[in-house]
Amino acid sequence: MSFSSAETVPQGVVQAMFLHPDAVLLLDQTALPREVRYTKITTADEMRHAIQTMIVRGAPAIGVAGAYGVVLSGRQHLSEPGQTCEKFVQLLLADADLLSQARPTAVNLQWAIDRLKTLIQRLADASETPQTILQKLEAEAQTIYEEDLAMCHAIGQNGAALVPKSARILTYCNAGALATAGYGTALGVVRSAFETDPTLQVIACETRPRLQGARLTSWEMVQENIPVTLITDNMSAWLMKQGRVDLVVVGADRIAANGDTANKIGTYLLAIAAKRHNIPFYVAAPSSTIDPQIANGDEIPIEVRPDEEIYWIHDETICPEGVSFYNPAFDVTPAELITAIITEKGVFRFPYHW
Ligand code: MRU
Repeated sequence: MSFSSAETVPQGVVQAMFLHPDAVLLLDQTALPREVRYTKITTADEMRHAIQTMIVRGAPAIGVAGAYGVVLSGRQHLSEPGQTCEKFVQLLLADADLLSQARPTAVNLQWAIDRLKTLIQRLADASETPQTILQKLEAEAQTIYEEDLAMCHAIGQNGAALVPKSARILTYCNAGALATAGYGTALGVVRSAFETDPTLQVIACETRPRLQGARLTSWEMVQENIPVTLITDNMSAWLMKQGRVDLVVVGADRIAANGDTANKIGTYLLAIAAKRHNIPFYVAAPSSTIDPQIANGDEIPIEVRPDEEIYWIHDETICPEGVSFYNPAFDVTPAELITAIITEKGVFRFPYHW
């Protein structure tokens, strides 16, 4: 279900989602920039589908959305006839597991849902009522949202200190307000630096196949009058060679203990090009994106997405029949290609001791 934003959400704010008493409103990121429209999500299953189809996307944002999905599950099951506490908890945990599997690479999704599962288990062990469990789940999900927003602002401040005057900042995919609770990680660095230096410029790579750079990063920057130049992905190394890029800052979907970083497919290529041209390459991410269980990038699961993302553009097929496809959605940049990782706790450099 979709409806106009006018009567339901505050205007002039880039916010990917809102928790309402009867639903979660998601800013439909598949419709941007053509249309600003919100989709009403009322069940855990609808939320899982919204995450899979990228109505909501970006690692921290899908963490918060997953947490909200568990809240929707609670609301749904609370009023079912003949509900018992034991059954309620079982249904919640089952929905939580399904939600956490919606997309495999961004660890924030599992991280947020595990946090709620631990809470559910603790409340169930204390024999709390389903009403109390739901109430506390709503509060915890909202805390996850608020913490993420605060982390993004801190990342922005920490990262802004690394941005020289009048910098030309190249970024990839969308690690902005749309990909988080708000403000963004990589774009949080841009926003924070722009507050004191309005002469900076952003270079957004279009980011095939889903065009998050062209559709979302450009849109976010235009909303706030931050100068943005859009390039196609294959132009980035040439701009670096020409001396048109001062630094690169990207987001992350999962960072292994050694600093190897999974991010949108194509990030690795950018890191290699940046190294070749001696350009600082920064990753900006909240600590919820660090997965200490994973020693290095080889263990990060990489999502492979549907073929049509490659062959369909604007309702047209761009290649002949008989072609095969391979569509990995993320790649892993080795830690040694990353100049520093900017989190809410500070700026970390190789070798990483978090
Ligand atoms: O497939 P997406 O659009 O969810 O991929 C998003 C990215 O790769 C982002 O760079 C990452 O999640 C960080 S968002 C702050």
